[in-house]
Amino acid sequence: MSDYLRIRGGRPLNGHVSVSGSKNAAVAIIPAAILADSPCTIENLPDIDDVYCYRDILSFLGADVEFAKGVMRIDPRGINKNELPQELVGRMRASYYLVPTLMGRLGSAHVPLPGGCDIGNRPIDQTIKGLTSLGARVDTDGGIINAVRGDNYGGNEVFLAMPSVGATINTMLAAVHAPGRTVIHNAAKEPHIVDTANFLSSMGARVKGAGTDIIRIDGGHPLHGSNYAVIPDQIETGTLMIAAAASRGDVTLHGTIPTHMESLTAKLLEMGVYVTDEDDIIRVRASGTLRPISLKTQVYPGFPTDLQQPLTAMLTTAWGTSYVTETIFESRFRYVDELRRMGAEIKVLESTAIVSGVEKLHPANVTATDLRAGAAMIVAALMADGVSNIGGIQYILRGYEHIDEKLRSLGGEVEYV
Ligand code: EPZ
Repeated sequence: MSDYLRIRGGRPLNGHVSVSGSKNAAVAIIPAAILADSPCTIENLPDIDDVYCYRDILSFLGADVEFAKGVMRIDPRGINKNELPQELVGRMRASYYLVPTLMGRLGSAHVPLPGGCDIGNRPIDQTIKGLTSLGARVDTDGGIINAVRGDNYGGNEVFLAMPSVGATINTMLAAVHAPGRTVIHNAAKEPHIVDTANFLSSMGARVKGAGTDIIRIDGGHPLHGSNYAVIPDQIETGTLMIAAAASRGDVTLHGTIPTHMESLTAKLLEMGVYVTDEDDIIRVRASGTLRPISLKTQVYPGFPTDLQQPLTAMLTTAWGTSYVTETIFESRFRYVDELRRMGAEIKVLESTAIVSGVEKLHPANVTATDLRAGAAMIVAALMADGVSNIGGIQYILRGYEHIDEKLRSLGGEVEYV
């Protein structure tokens, strides 16, 4: 097992790379297969730890699961358990998608409270609101989410206090087995929500409006297995676009969905980066100094919070002062300390990072404090002249498929050591 991701930076990335399937779609679609009355085949899954974690969870529950070469075959008919040990679900935020799916299949579920990246308080009050609105009884006694279908379990109006990704997906996963109509108001619109809704529809569910802030589900109908391929990863695509620009290279990304990247593309163009796209291809070129910007993270289709960290890393060498405001999570700037160790000049005032551009970052041994902080470290190391070692690679392995191979294929000197 490696301990570090070693990067010799200071050279441009050039060439062609294909993006992988979406982590945040995969970790919702895999548990959704629990709701089917026959086997599912899910394709284009990324080769990342969170997917292996879900394979092990489904096997533990009694499903018949095979995962190889990006394809997972799930036969949920053998599932005979509805509770899980902490060690199986602890580190993954997405483990709570097991609550509505196991409750849907077996009538109740007992899932330890989710883990996930330490980027702030990760409450699940809106998920609980969604499930209880449909008539489930939910409590979190002893750190376990206990959910039981009530006698009058059925469709209802659900009003989310904020467009929470997890609560939107959890309510959709619960509503497809709740007889009658459910309407989710103030729903989140991220691409992985639409992908999850499309997968449910491919199983015979009646879901309308995913991608808008009102999603209608007519539930209570049997769901059959289906073959489905998850969408390309929006955040991996964005991370690679930023890495290309930060290294002042010329990179063409294949297998993307450019419309998912519009908020990032707009910011890169503002900085003076050349971004062009056609069909499923995005080309990113940059040279010389880049302009500073002001940035505010928003729910989709605004600028994604998951790209705030890698883009801020790139802004450390922009020619001037940039302002980055994080509106989604309350402590998603912890990684800034590590950037400072590479020479970055950043002040954090409440939810805004003020980045004063410097000529160059210098290499250092740094540590990723969460998945996308790992992306920020990678971007910074690619810009620094010399060898940096990035610790905390367990986070990077959770969400970026073979990022070392991808960067090496673009001429980067990157290896797990
Ligand atoms: C999903 O997390 C993603 N994870 C996150 O990506 C992503 O950053 C986030 O959506 C926002 O886009 C997965 O999809 C597995 P939220 P989630 O519920 O569902 C507050 C990554 O790097 N909130 O939209 O947890 C919450 O505290 C990860 O891939 C409540 O107050 O996001 C947060 O401040 C990191 N009550 C904000 O809303 C709730 O019940 C966004 O949370 C739910 C959320």
